[in-house]
Amino acid sequence: MLMLASFLFPAEIPAQNAPAWALETPEQKEKRMAWWTHDRLGMFIHWGLYSLPARGEWVKRREKITGADYQKYFERFNPDLYNPKEWAARARAAGMKYMVVTTKHHEGFCLWDSKHTDYKVTNTPHGKDLIKPLVDAFRAEGIRIGFYYSLIDWHHPDFHYDRHHPQCPPTPEKRKAANASSDMGKYRQYMKDQLTELLTQFGRIDELFMDFSYPGENGKGHADWDAEGLLQLVRSLQPEILVNSRMDLEHTDWGWDFVTPEQFMPRRWPEVRGRRVPWETCQTFSGAWGYHRDEHSWKSVRQLVVMLAETVSKGGNLLLNTGPTARGVFDDRAIARLDGIGKWMQFHRRSIHGCTQAPDDFTAPENCLLTYNPATKRLYIHVLEWPFKSLHLPGYAGRFSYAQLLNDASEIKFRTQTHAQPDAHTTETSGAKDVMLTLPVEPPPVTLPVIELFLE
Ligand code: GLC
Repeated sequence: MLMLASFLFPAEIPAQNAPAWALETPEQKEKRMAWWTHDRLGMFIHWGLYSLPARGEWVKRREKITGADYQKYFERFNPDLYNPKEWAARARAAGMKYMVVTTKHHEGFCLWDSKHTDYKVTNTPHGKDLIKPLVDAFRAEGIRIGFYYSLIDWHHPDFHYDRHHPQCPPTPEKRKAANASSDMGKYRQYMKDQLTELLTQFGRIDELFMDFSYPGENGKGHADWDAEGLLQLVRSLQPEILVNSRMDLEHTDWGWDFVTPEQFMPRRWPEVRGRRVPWETCQTFSGAWGYHRDEHSWKSVRQLVVMLAETVSKGGNLLLNTGPTARGVFDDRAIARLDGIGKWMQFHRRSIHGCTQAPDDFTAPENCLLTYNPATKRLYIHVLEWPFKSLHLPGYAGRFSYAQLLNDASEIKFRTQTHAQPDAHTTETSGAKDVMLTLPVEPPPVTLPVIELFLE
């Protein structure tokens, strides 16, 4: 059991110099993360007041909108078509096993009925908490729950101006003067109070996505947040929770569980200080996280499916984002993509869930990605470009007993005989350890064909 888990879980991470409350053995950490390294695919949801301007979740900063001007969105926030059961059903159909929702984004608006602010959904025309029904609906579909919480807050009066703030004064002197009248200590306490609500009022929370740090000149890092204090609180309230690496504690081995490259595909399994680490990449359907009406760089279903296979082929998780509209629905473009992913996942989910990077001694055939399930010992060949009749597997002889297309479980014949001399029909030689799969000329009618090998 342990060996199996070790395969899914990267090199052990010693908790060197950890404070007593953070001590954990590599085995304990591996166990805590086991569901996550298995599940691989989650849904990210970016929702807030910014869905009304519909120009992305950074609109307040990008257009330098003042608090007074931004108020028009607060006064009109009323997602009358909100039906989280439908969202949850769509996520499940797409093969998503966990969900992470923005409880508060950088704009500072809270989607739950927080006691510690008036800037919350219950004071908008909608008048009702959004988080509890969301959590209930996703749990009912067997989907785990994650909360995104923004460290940045452009609404809170005690949050100090910095380079990302929409109203940051133009010079260091003016900034210092403006910050003199507010108290970051109060804001730190506010975060603790809010996280206490989020982590005690909604049952078990599986993932916490804190966002984000930008230390250095005119920025904010772990001391500004009291990141260690936050983490200690979080772990005391939800000991099993998984926390991302954006609180500026990456210099420790205990201050985070996984790294989070975003809008970017790593070339290989990411490493920290020379060791492979758990990773989750978050990606958008289009260029924006929050609903953006006029943003047109939408990825195709195929691009998204390949992205999923590629992520798992490098041992990672994919958190795919949808930005619901201000009416409370996923727009048609998002639905088309979720449907397309679901259609593929219906027949190919076992090449994703429970899978990870293939053992290093398996070479990916040309134009292919490999994923591997160490529990079932199946190797999955995701064929990016369907070749004509044969697929050459270098060094695979004697390593598997059966091959089939995953979509319809139809047998794929193979031969391992070697040709030391060029064969009259194929003009090719092949090495003693190579295998040739005999493929149908027509590719299977799926977004990304997958061949399943039963390893010896
Ligand atoms: C960035 C952005 C933010 C988005 C997040 C998702 O940190 O600031 O808008 O929520 O990435 O990972």
